[in-house]
Amino acid sequence: MAIPTIEWEGGKDGRMKIIDQTLLPGELKFLYCDDIQTVWRAIKELKVRGAPAIGIAAAMGTYVGIKGANTNNFEAFWKKLKEVTDYLRTSRPTAVNLFWALERMEHAAQAYSHEPVNTLKEMLFEEALEILEEDRDSSKAIGRFGAELIRKGSTVMTYCNAGGLATGGYGTALAVIYAAKESGKDIKVYACETRPLLQGARLTSWELLQHGLDVTLICDNMVAHVMVEGRVDLVVVGADRIAANGDAANKIGSYGLAIVAQEHGIPFYVAAPVSTFDLRIPSGSHIPIEERSAHEVTTLGGQRTAPEGVKVYNPAFDVIPARLITAIITEKGVIKEPDAKKVQRLLVGAG
Ligand code: MRU
Repeated sequence: MAIPTIEWEGGKDGRMKIIDQTLLPGELKFLYCDDIQTVWRAIKELKVRGAPAIGIAAAMGTYVGIKGANTNNFEAFWKKLKEVTDYLRTSRPTAVNLFWALERMEHAAQAYSHEPVNTLKEMLFEEALEILEEDRDSSKAIGRFGAELIRKGSTVMTYCNAGGLATGGYGTALAVIYAAKESGKDIKVYACETRPLLQGARLTSWELLQHGLDVTLICDNMVAHVMVEGRVDLVVVGADRIAANGDAANKIGSYGLAIVAQEHGIPFYVAAPVSTFDLRIPSGSHIPIEERSAHEVTTLGGQRTAPEGVKVYNPAFDVIPARLITAIITEKGVIKEPDAKKVQRLLVGAG
């Protein structure tokens, strides 16, 4: 992204700056977060969203929460830090990057517990910036590995937004598309609109147009028809949490998309950094699925579309079983036909 989705402004006394994604594509406006309530709400309300960006926001949010801690005592400082991280943990349940980043900040604090609190704060500030930098590098590497899987002249379908807006800069699924384009391949994209919150229509099509991509927007219920017409060569999506066996949670509708792709013999790729894997859970059935408010389903663009009193079910994610995934593209390499052994081998180097 020419304009960063998330960054830190103004040195260690500064604040977190994000693009408020709820206002796109109509308005490109920034939100400045200088207290953890604002950080928490920004994550909860999808002002900052997408698994890697949520992780970065959580790390910076931790620093926002502890930078003013007025103590020289590690125990008191740790108590404050745990209050902050436990609070941020309650913002969204599915993207494991949130929990990964918070744990990393906690481990950093423990590792430097012998240092004076002021030094410790500086180290936590550096750790948050490091998480952002690493994510930028991972995105680039995901793009490079993924681009090798795309033939010249391909048409790629994508879902939700797994682009620069969802990460520290370049994206995961969209990084693959950007890298393929940069390597001279002539790529076209179908972006699915992604109800209820329209991340595909509002964010992906906006972002791809900014990058000069040939993008066509479709409603989610057009997927099977577009595929049977032979318009799609491959699908690439992101992920919010990948279990040890390669099952991947992503935006609601991804599971259906994978089933339809398989029916039509279309390769289905998941692109995600290593920080999106959760090796503590054996399979996708253990992934907590966020349920969101009814009004996201009963309204569209602020306009009510359903009668008062109707019951609503609004799960925000579903799980793509590993057997429907052609390959998972990570910054460490590609896991073809993923299973527990292959995931373990790439991530831990054993098995
Ligand atoms: O609810 P959202 O918009 O945070 O959901 C985002 C997704 O499902 C993305 O595909 C996923 O987080 C990967 S982002 C690189």
